[in-house]
Amino acid sequence: MVQEFNKVGVVGLGTMGAGIAEVFARAGFSVTGVEIDTDAVERGRGHIAASLGRARDKGKITQEEHDTILARIALTTDREDLGDADFVVEAVPERPDIKRDVFTDLDRICPPGTILATNTSSLSVTEIAALTDRPGLVVGLHFFNPAPVMKLVEVVSTPSTDPGTAAVAEEVAKRIGKTPVSVGDRAGFVANALLVPYINDAVSLYGRRLASREEIDAAASEGAGLPMGPLTLADLVGLDVCLAVMDVLWEEFRTPRYAAAPLLRRMVTAGMLGRKSGRGFYPYGGEAPAAED
Ligand code: 3HC
Repeated sequence: MVQEFNKVGVVGLGTMGAGIAEVFARAGFSVTGVEIDTDAVERGRGHIAASLGRARDKGKITQEEHDTILARIALTTDREDLGDADFVVEAVPERPDIKRDVFTDLDRICPPGTILATNTSSLSVTEIAALTDRPGLVVGLHFFNPAPVMKLVEVVSTPSTDPGTAAVAEEVAKRIGKTPVSVGDRAGFVANALLVPYINDAVSLYGRRLASREEIDAAASEGAGLPMGPLTLADLVGLDVCLAVMDVLWEEFRTPRYAAAPLLRRMVTAGMLGRKSGRGFYPYGGEAPAAED
């Protein structure tokens, strides 16, 4: 059970993986974070240090707590270091070839009883489970961005997930201060099936110039009380992630409601992915103009 977990592995330390590693370390778990090369490890270290530094500067944690949490996180480029991991969360890019590589390795490296969780938002957890010889121990653990802040975690069960695996994943989610909801493996699960078509509709409105990006965002934040408008949110989540979710919804349901907005696709093709690329619907820090300025 969760109380006996000594070591949690997090594979992939991008925005989501770094946030997930931080959340586990804050809850007292020893975390081993794995990235593909030393540059990626350093970027991951930077994400974690910046987030914990912000929390310390705001007085949310003391310097001592900051240091203790950081000391619980070991970073490595060697997946073999997960040979004694009790629970692993994968948060690598949403590409089937990369997931295949990671899950084949994890299945070989991790002890036979270790649960392998995926943070995928757009790929089938069932297909990921089928890459392993332990499909009963594979589950979705879908976090929301920013992972240290957002409370929801979707625990995604496939037809082959053992009920005990889902129960442990829910217990883990609670131990790290999250609110788990139990969902089935279908495109978009529940939250993204609601949220991403709404973002896509906002992109369509903007693409047809029915309002400015600021007006569209204000309509949602000031008119509907949402914490941020849909175009700002798309920039936070990543336009590539939004497009990937729209495309799996389309693949699965083939209804016009789930057709990706042409502007969304064009922006992804152009490398305008939102905050992470420095350009999206708004500019971030650089000189580059935002979308269609
Ligand atoms: N990392 C860590 N902490 C962060 C953070 C980050 N990237 N961004 C903000 N925070 C923390 C701040 O430090 C602050 O903490 P405090 O309350 O302890 O001081 C708190 O969050 C609030 O931040 P701010 O005061 O700076 O700003 P806001 O009040 O505007 O909140 C927000 C920022 C939490 C991002 C809020 O705007 C929000 O909830 N936005 C909606 C986010 C959302 O909908 N996410 C889900 C996207 S869908 C998804 O991820 C699924 C995927 O599969 C597509």
